[in-house]
Amino acid sequence: MKRLEVNQTIIPEKKTLLHHWERVLESGKLTNNQVEVQSFEKELEVSCQRAHALAVSSGTMALQLLIRALDLPKGEIIVPAFSFVATASAPMWEGYKVILCDIDPKTLCIDPGKVEARISSDTRAILGVHVFGQPCAVDKLEVLGNQYGIPVIYDGAHAMGSMLHNKPLLAIGLASMTSLHTSKIVSSIEGGALFTDDASLHNRLFQMRYFGRNASNQDELLGTNAKMHEFSAAYGQLSLARLKEEVEARRQIAAQYDEAFLTIDGLDIFKESSNHYWNRAYYPIQVHHSVAMEQIMEQGEKQNIGFRPYWRPALQDLPYLNEESSRRYPVASFAANHTLCLPIYSSMNRNDVGRVIQCIIKAME
Ligand SMILES: Cc1ncc(COP(=O)(O)O)c(C=O)c1O
Repeated sequence: MKRLEVNQTIIPEKKTLLHHWERVLESGKLTNNQVEVQSFEKELEVSCQRAHALAVSSGTMALQLLIRALDLPKGEIIVPAFSFVATASAPMWEGYKVILCDIDPKTLCIDPGKVEARISSDTRAILGVHVFGQPCAVDKLEVLGNQYGIPVIYDGAHAMGSMLHNKPLLAIGLASMTSLHTSKIVSSIEGGALFTDDASLHNRLFQMRYFGRNASNQDELLGTNAKMHEFSAAYGQLSLARLKEEVEARRQIAAQYDEAFLTIDGLDIFKESSNHYWNRAYYPIQVHHSVAMEQIMEQGEKQNIGFRPYWRPALQDLPYLNEESSRRYPVASFAANHTLCLPIYSSMNRNDVGRVIQCIIKAME
């Protein structure tokens, strides 16, 4: 029985990929912002409807660069208590104190109603995360940001292909980033991308990615090396080209899951909110009882299905977030201990989807 993993990125067709890679190899220009990176960025700009896209070496580096490029005084950055570790470690790595905030149980994203209580005179930014490709409450966060004069930036590691009000989710806000790691819908194997409409912010990010050098190759700003190389960018273009059809296929699988799970007691699904076109980067379910959750994972292992808990533990339990460890974030804690992601990707056939459904029904009996 073939193994079903939680995720499979869009893997380019082998012959086409090798042809592209051969072209890169023969050009002798393997890195340093050459044609493949430049073309990839143009395609990302079109796909995400942004004036500027910048390809970088990982999503984590994208977050670090963005936080640094905002040039804020040291202080606090508010992040949701339920996210991947990089959402918290990137601001910490840049010397900011991370202030956690609980999440909205309906979207698993930062709860805008709880953000205000976490704002202090030391708050420098709010980092919203579009968890699993669902939009965080951008309108409310933007209002808060304006009210307090705090920039709001977005971790859209899962957001490629999601739309809100007919606009790509990554097009929203001063700046956003995505991950292009192989666990994401679109990938460049390892990689990330930054998006903004602000030309001067883009210019700073562009320089910081390349040791701080300006267009005339002079050392101007403190920078780092966050470049994407040409082989990755070529791979990324081929992956991005199939985004629409991948999302469509995932949405059809999600509809089958929705129908099957709607009436199962002890399990909740997440519905697409109005005006949202969900990319189904993930298909999360929430299992009420921990025992049932373990049963699903156990059954899955027996049947070669890799259900994954996301993200366990919640960020509040990170060993290096000492000052936060005494505070509890009940919704995030519950999510961390009760959320499972199911396999969802276009190469799954009806039989594969049926296997996942039957496995869950059996485990929940
Ligand atoms: C929400 C979130 N933010 C940031 C990242 C970091 O991206 P990368 O793995 O490309 O560094 C990830 C990666 O899984 C993520 O899920």
